[in-house]
Amino acid sequence: MSRAVVLGGTGLIGRATARRLLAAGWDVTVVGRDSSRMPEDIAVAGGRFVTADRGESGGLATALGAGADLVVDCLCFTAAHARDLLPLLDDVGSTVMISSKAVYVDAAGNHVNSAVAPVFDGPIRESQPTMAPRGDVGYRTRDGYGANKVAAERVLLDSGHPVTVLRPSKVHGEGAAKPCEWVFVKRVADRREVLLLARGGRGVDHPSAAGNIAALIETVAENPGRRVLNCADPDAPDALAIARTVADHLGHRWEEVLLDDHAPAGLGLHPWDRLPGIRLDMTAAGRLGYRPVGDFATTVRAELDWLCSIERLPAGFDHDYFSPMFDYAAEDAYLAER
Ligand SMILES: NC(=O)c1ccc[n+]([C@@H]2O[C@H](COP(=O)([O-])OP(=O)(O)OC[C@H]3O[C@@H](n4cnc5c(N)ncnc54)[C@H](OP(=O)(O)O)[C@@H]3O)[C@@H](O)[C@H]2O)c1
Repeated sequence: MSRAVVLGGTGLIGRATARRLLAAGWDVTVVGRDSSRMPEDIAVAGGRFVTADRGESGGLATALGAGADLVVDCLCFTAAHARDLLPLLDDVGSTVMISSKAVYVDAAGNHVNSAVAPVFDGPIRESQPTMAPRGDVGYRTRDGYGANKVAAERVLLDSGHPVTVLRPSKVHGEGAAKPCEWVFVKRVADRREVLLLARGGRGVDHPSAAGNIAALIETVAENPGRRVLNCADPDAPDALAIARTVADHLGHRWEEVLLDDHAPAGLGLHPWDRLPGIRLDMTAAGRLGYRPVGDFATTVRAELDWLCSIERLPAGFDHDYFSPMFDYAAEDAYLAER
């Protein structure tokens, strides 16, 4: 039986990967710092949990044990993280490093976290220029996230080991710490009868189902190699389509108010407000044999059903990110004056 080690395996991408590989007959070790975050169904399916901190000396060696056929690293954010992995890769068949579309820059050097929104001239290919690698700025900062990811990618790709770098977009799935669709799920729970959407809800920020990422990881595991691949859903619905998908799935109806550029600032905010839209080109993954599990409307159900079933939002849930999107008082004042 082939052995896979998933670093950060209790998280959003990690748990989908563990489930997919277990179903395909792999022996899977899930690595995290807190055993209480190990999903029960993964344990029942045979997944083993190993407590290790990737950032502490000896943590990675503990996690990898005697080696593995496949390592999926969901926790590689910097060149230093990547270098920590290198001495262990002689005992690893192939590695998948989870990077991000945040590495890409447009012709003016703007990226998804820059003050000026990027303008890409179509679906982004893997050959699109990236930020320059940096290690002198924290990876949790807007300027540092993509630049440190690029630095980490290069360390691994230059090592000569069979490393596949995956660049997902906006990830959705069960277990998300920042489930974007919460912006609509909460509105349904709050019985809001009106939905306001900035810029007509036409914004697009390509979704990536954790289940589709897991499917690509399985494809990559069957075809070890040194490469970079985008990873996003087969479709890229705009915010209005996403809102309708959520409302349909939850059996809710609301009046849609599609705001134009003259609407007061701060109304109808949502996570996909990117115009021109951001889409990833998935041709390269398709050529490798990747077949997605499903489109957005199909795959997002896992997250929606999970959000409706939990009593408490996940630990680390980013309330500050969502709170400007729930200014019901401002919405009601605007609607009263219409
Ligand atoms: N989510 C997105 O929308 C998105 C988009 C593009 C790229 N990505 C990339 O995808 C990767 C995975 O993201 P994700 O959203 O799946 O992450 P996540 O849901 O936050 O999961 C990370 C997991 O790793 C564990 N962990 C954190 N620090 C650890 C450490 N030092 N040692 C061992 N385990 C640790 C956490 O559990 P404990 O805290 O219990 O240890 C958690 O279960 C990241 O590299 C991210 O940059 C994510």
